[in-house]
Amino acid sequence: MRQFAELAGDVRDPYPMFAAIRESTPVMEVHYGPGPGSRSTLDPKAPRVPSLFTVTSHELARQVLTDTVRFSSAGYASTIGQVLGRSIIQMDAPDHVRQRALVARAFRARVLDRWSDEIIGATVGELIDAFAPEGHADLVPQLTYPFPIRVIARVLGLPAADWPRFLRLSTELIAVMRNWDRAVAASRELRGYFGEIIADRRRHARDDLISQLVEAEVDGHRLADEEIYPFLLLLLPAGAETTGRSSGNLLFGLLSDPSQLDAVRGDRDLVPLAIEEALRWETPLLTVARTAIADLELGGVRVPAGALVAVSLGAANRDPARYPDPDAFDIFRADKQHMSFGDGTHTCLGMHLARLEMRILLTAVLDRLPGLRLDPAADDPHIHGLLFRSPPTLPVFFDPA
Ligand code: HEM
Repeated sequence: MRQFAELAGDVRDPYPMFAAIRESTPVMEVHYGPGPGSRSTLDPKAPRVPSLFTVTSHELARQVLTDTVRFSSAGYASTIGQVLGRSIIQMDAPDHVRQRALVARAFRARVLDRWSDEIIGATVGELIDAFAPEGHADLVPQLTYPFPIRVIARVLGLPAADWPRFLRLSTELIAVMRNWDRAVAASRELRGYFGEIIADRRRHARDDLISQLVEAEVDGHRLADEEIYPFLLLLLPAGAETTGRSSGNLLFGLLSDPSQLDAVRGDRDLVPLAIEEALRWETPLLTVARTAIADLELGGVRVPAGALVAVSLGAANRDPARYPDPDAFDIFRADKQHMSFGDGTHTCLGMHLARLEMRILLTAVLDRLPGLRLDPAADDPHIHGLLFRSPPTLPVFFDPA
């Protein structure tokens, strides 16, 4: 359990801090770090940004993310790029446009349709089977955390015998800010492992994502192995961790307000609304980063060339100028749009998959765990974290199958 708590970080509620920053200035030069009295769980070897400009308003967040003339994504090269290699997240045009077009083909709606029952439904089903007869569970380690990593393992077409090793290495890679050396070692091992699978798929294509990446071709371009590794590694923090955490936040939001849980249970048309509101209310990934390409002005503040600009998706999602009563979790809220999948050319490539996964997971939980409620004796379950946010634990009771 300690592992999940550490992965989530140690800040319980950063939103008053974001609100204070937003009220004082739209763009603030600020040091991020644990607040007074909280303990840092970050590995001292993990790269730190000494100071940076933080954007907290919805309008400016959108402005930065959609402006690729003044802002670059290259800053990720010195942070997560050290572990993943040169993935599309740190690329700018024209490389980004070319590579994104190549990998995007693997996430087409037609492909997702096929994954729906065969992969996503089957994975949720297996995990729930393991605890449904018990009448109680901790939904984080038993469901929301392992679920998307297993989905990715299947989507990639990894043999079932390799899953335990893949799950271990994925967990180590994802914990990069807590244990830098272990994540670097996991990245190296995963590269070696993917190298064997890619070589195999180049010889015999199969019906899986790695085969599609190997075969993808746009305007005569194909992906080299050195381009495929970073993309596959990126799917772990970008695809698995975020979806696991969002699923935890969704379940926490509903379990903490039984009237909204009952409403969704009684009317499944509300499932997509609950998902969007959970994503807005508690985004799993709080911040994305850009670098100012030249000296510029943002929201009336001077930002020098080369400065890192942290766009707080969490703060943007709770901007009172955009959302009335922004701190409330309200699935009936009229404004369903949010910034949790980013914006502009780097908008999350996996957002349709993420939504599909969350929909299948919530539907299965509602169908298979009647009477679901938080364990009243549980030790204060809550969402926390400053880099990523989610509940480290969700102990529940339900009527046994
Ligand atoms: C609820 C779950 C998810 C959230 C909140 C999320 C959030 C994000 C955000 C905010 C970005 C933009 C980063 C930036 O602009 O710097 C992003 C990019 C990306 N996401 Fe997701 N993501 C989720 C699920 C997924 C899934 C399931 C996949 C695929 C399996 C995925 C793959 C990617 C990729 C490949 C990028 C890079 C796109 C690019 O740079 O062009 N994500 N995601």
